[in-house]
Formats: sequence, structure tokens, C-alpha cells
Amino acid sequence: MPTTATQHGLRRLIARPLVTLGHLGALVLIGLAACTQPNIRTEVGPPLAQPQVTDAKPREYPGLHQVVAYTPDIWSGAAPEGPAGFESLARLGVLTVLSVDGAATEVDEANRHGLRYVHLPHGYDGIDAFRRLEIARVVHDLPRPIYVHCHHGKHRSAAAVASSCVALGYLSIADAEARMHVSGIAAQYKGLFQAVRDSKPVDEATLKTADASFPAQSKVSDMVEAMVAIDFTFENVQHVEKAGWKVPSDHPDLVPAAELGRMADHFRTGADTLPKGEQQELIDWMKRSYTQVAELEAAFVAGTESGDQLSARFKAISQNCKDCHAKYRN
Ligand code: HEC
Repeated sequence: MPTTATQHGLRRLIARPLVTLGHLGALVLIGLAACTQPNIRTEVGPPLAQPQVTDAKPREYPGLHQVVAYTPDIWSGAAPEGPAGFESLARLGVLTVLSVDGAATEVDEANRHGLRYVHLPHGYDGIDAFRRLEIARVVHDLPRPIYVHCHHGKHRSAAAVASSCVALGYLSIADAEARMHVSGIAAQYKGLFQAVRDSKPVDEATLKTADASFPAQSKVSDMVEAMVAIDFTFENVQHVEKAGWKVPSDHPDLVPAAELGRMADHFRTGADTLPKGEQQELIDWMKRSYTQVAELEAAFVAGTESGDQLSARFKAISQNCKDCHAKYRN
């Protein structure tokens, strides 16, 4: 029998007796909002076991990876993968989702599962003091559990959660860093570690100075937009490579040449959006990347090269991603 969102909220309350008055108020508000939101999802599967602060490694759920609890109701992880990922979030009892990467948020999918989406992106080079305070305010003000994610859920979301837990006085810097290691943060992201070390407990008055518009979708730069699109096509080409440079059986909809063509285009248009002059090396590098990908596309379409030869080209392209990021991004 279908249940209403309010009933679902009540089920959660019964299931989790430690709920605070704040949570109760939030659930009632959400229940009321559900009555006026036509697209809210009214039925979810049975509850899933929530991640625990004592977990020594990330948890995996359908469509949801790298899930690590920093406190009982503040979690970090990877971007939810389509409806299955959002369904897992709903079954875990999550009420707020915060994305800190540059990809467009799937707001409709979140709303269908009764989740509020907030988008406050930051780069791999760190989180400035303003953004740290905004993120801490989201974590403080909006209903929890909250799930904070970036694309892979290892680096940026870990730093965002760790810094806000320090700012809100929930974790010491050392304990926050220990959880970042469980998330799998790589040592090379020094700016992300620094953001956590720069964090200090803030009082209510300071927290209230942070913007509270909580946007469901933030505008990102043309370069970030290009990179998000490049990353998307890059992952698709990885599937194609794994399948021996053929259409992968688990992704039958992929058109390999089209993916390569799109990746090349994004490098070219990405280069065009950069300010001329001051960033000439970066622009030239983007253009070289365009040529490399376009050449791989041409070789693939011509069908004259072996899988190993195509893979060697693809390896050079991925090395290029790493080298440029080491110099210009991280
Ligand atoms: C010529 C330099 C260069 C190359 C080559 C390059 N990138 Fe980037 N990439 C950048 C820069 C610079 C940024 C940071 C942009 C910003 O935050 O303003 C970035 C950011 C990103 C991001 C983060 C987007 C976000 O959510 O904020 C991803 C993902 C990414 N690149 C993937 C890739 C992949 C995959 C490749 C290779 C196929 C690649 N990049 C090649 C320069 C490069």
C-alpha cells in the first residue's frame, strides 16, 4: 500500500528514537511541504543500515559509493548515480544533499525522493573561508542526516565535511583528518588539507553572516563546465577501452566515436573560454589536448590501429589530465 511522505517521516521517527525536537520540527515541515509538492516520492524501499562513525572503510549502497560518517548524521560520499542512488539516500533517511563539485545537480530526481538539494561547489585547490562558512551553515541549519558529495566522494566532499565539523565544534582537526583518510583523500590535495587545518569553531553570530540562500544549482565558470563535460565523456571512453574498443555490453547506448568527438570539442571550446594572454600556456595545453583526442577519434573511426595502439593514445591523454591538474588545478 502506498504511504505518504508524512507516514514515511513518522516511520523514521519510530525507527530512530534518538531524534531531537529540531529533527521533529523539520520532519513536520517536510511533511507539510510534501502535501504541496506534486512530484514528491511517496514510496521508498525498506530502510538501509546507516553508516557509522566507527566504520574503518567507506560503505557501498545501490548507486551510492564511498559513504563515510563523520558524525552520526553528517556523511560524505560520491555523487548519487541516477534514481538508484537517490533511492538509497531516501532509504538511509537522508533529508539534505549538498554537492560541492561543478556538475549540475539533479534537483528533480532529489525532489522526487523528498530530498533537498544544495549546490556550493569548490575546487581541488582548497575551500576559501567564505565558502567554508556557507557550507558549515548548510550543515547547521538544514535538516539532517545530510549527505555531502563530490564526484568520487574521496577528496572534495571529505574536506567540506571535515571543515564544517570542525567549524561547528563536532570534531577536532585531528579526528576530522582521520575520517578524511577513511574517505580515501589523496595526499596531493594539500589545499584541501589546509582548508581543514584553517578551520576553527565558529559562534552562532559568525555563522549567521554566511549566505543562507542555499541554492539548488550554482553557476560555475565555463572552464569548470567544460571539465565536467570532459570528465563525463572520459569515463565513457574508459568503459569503451575496457570492452576492447567496442561498444560495452553494459553500456549498449554508448557511441564511442561520438564520445571522443564530444571530448575533443569540450577541450576546444574550453580553451576558447579562457582569458587570452595571461593564461597562454594553459590555452595551448588545452588545444594540444584537443588535437590528441581528435587524433584518437580519427584512428578509431579509420579502424587501422590495434586496441593496444588506441590504448597507448588514450594513456597519453589521461597523463595529460594529471599533468595539467598538478600544475593548474590542485
Ligand atoms: C590543459 C589543462 C587541463 C587538462 C589537459 C585537463 N584539465 Fe581538468 N581541469 C583543469 C583546470 C585548470 C581545472 C580547474 C578549473 C577551476 O576550478 O576553475 C580542471 C578541473 C577538472 C575537474 C573538476 C571539475 C569540478 O567539478 O570542479 C575535472 C573532473 C577534470 N578537470 C577532469 C579532467 C579530465 C578527465 C581530463 C583529461 C581527459 C582533464 N580534466 C584535462 C585543467 C585541465
